[in-house]
Parts: sequence; structure tokens; C-alpha cells
Amino acid sequence: MKLAVYPGSFDPLTNGHVDIIERGTHLFDKIIVAILVNIEKSPLFTMEERVDILREVFKGRPNVEVDTFEGLLVDYVAGRQADVIVRGLRALSDFETEFQMALMNRRLSPDIETVFMMPAEKYTYISSRLIKEVFSLGGQVRGLVPEIVESRLREKQKGRVHAR
Ligand code: PNS
Repeated sequence: MKLAVYPGSFDPLTNGHVDIIERGTHLFDKIIVAILVNIEKSPLFTMEERVDILREVFKGRPNVEVDTFEGLLVDYVAGRQADVIVRGLRALSDFETEFQMALMNRRLSPDIETVFMMPAEKYTYISSRLIKEVFSLGGQVRGLVPEIVESRLREKQKGRVHAR
């Protein structure tokens, strides 16, 4: 069984991520979407919310598993008995950091291979950071994130307005 890990922050999940996961399911028997537990960053969505969103979007899809990890990615990948890391490449600007991460991961664990996949062209400019920025400034994000993400963003916004 060919098992791949697709790691990331997913704060929030975008249609670009969904596209990569869908493409990955055609290449691998199973994709584990692994959300990084990063105590340094202050995320918009809690870990539980991100897990919940991903599970909802991929419910009924036994070849997509949602999990969380902390520590070194390669340790997590090995612990899950997987040997492939999937990363999305949108533009040349992604290349430098992705190249560094892939080679560092290879040095740490030579048996684990990083596979880069390109999302559909229409998603190449989307990032979680831009989604948060545009939404917080009143811009439209429909079609760029799954519907559940859009409604959760709205709920968060309402909560903030009421809390003022
Ligand atoms: O969605 P992101 O924020 O681009 O994902 C980055 C991620 C989670 C893939 C990366 O930060 C990571 O693998 N972190 C785990 C710590 C680690 O293994 N660092 C060394 C690898 S270079």
C-alpha cells in the first residue's frame, strides 16, 4: 500500500489544498493530511477546528485520513510507516523554501521522498494567509475555500464583533 503524508498548517484549508489532496488520491492508496501542531504560531483556527473542517470536507473518503503531528515531520512520516511527503508547488516563489525543506528532510531521512504536485491553475495564487487577509478586510473568498471554511470564517467574524 502506497501511503503519503500531506503536511501543513491548513489555517485555513483552501481549495488549493483540496485540489492537491484530490490529485494525491489518484497517485497513492491513501493520503494522510497531517496538521502541524505549532505552539509558536497563533492560528486563526484552533487545531480542533482545523481537524473538524478537514474531516467534514473529506467525510466518506476512506483514502483520506486527517491527523495532527508535532516535532519533526520525518519522524511522524516514519512512525506512520509512510515514505512519501506530498507538497504543493504554486509558483516559483514557493520553490526556494520547499527545496530547502525537501533536502533537509532527505538528509534527516534518506528513505523518505518528497513529491511536489501543482494545483489547478485557477488556485495557484491562493494561500491561507491571503484568504485570512482578504476575508478580514471584507473581501469575497467564495470559490477559493470550501463552503464550510467560508461559514466558519463568518462565524468567527460574528463572534469578534459581538465580543467588542
Ligand atoms: O502549510 P505550511 O505552514 O507551509 O507547512 C509547513 C510544514 C508543516 C510542512 C513544516 O513547517 C514542517 O514540516 N514542520 C515540522 C518541523 C520539521 O520537521 N522541520 C524540519 C523540516 S525542514
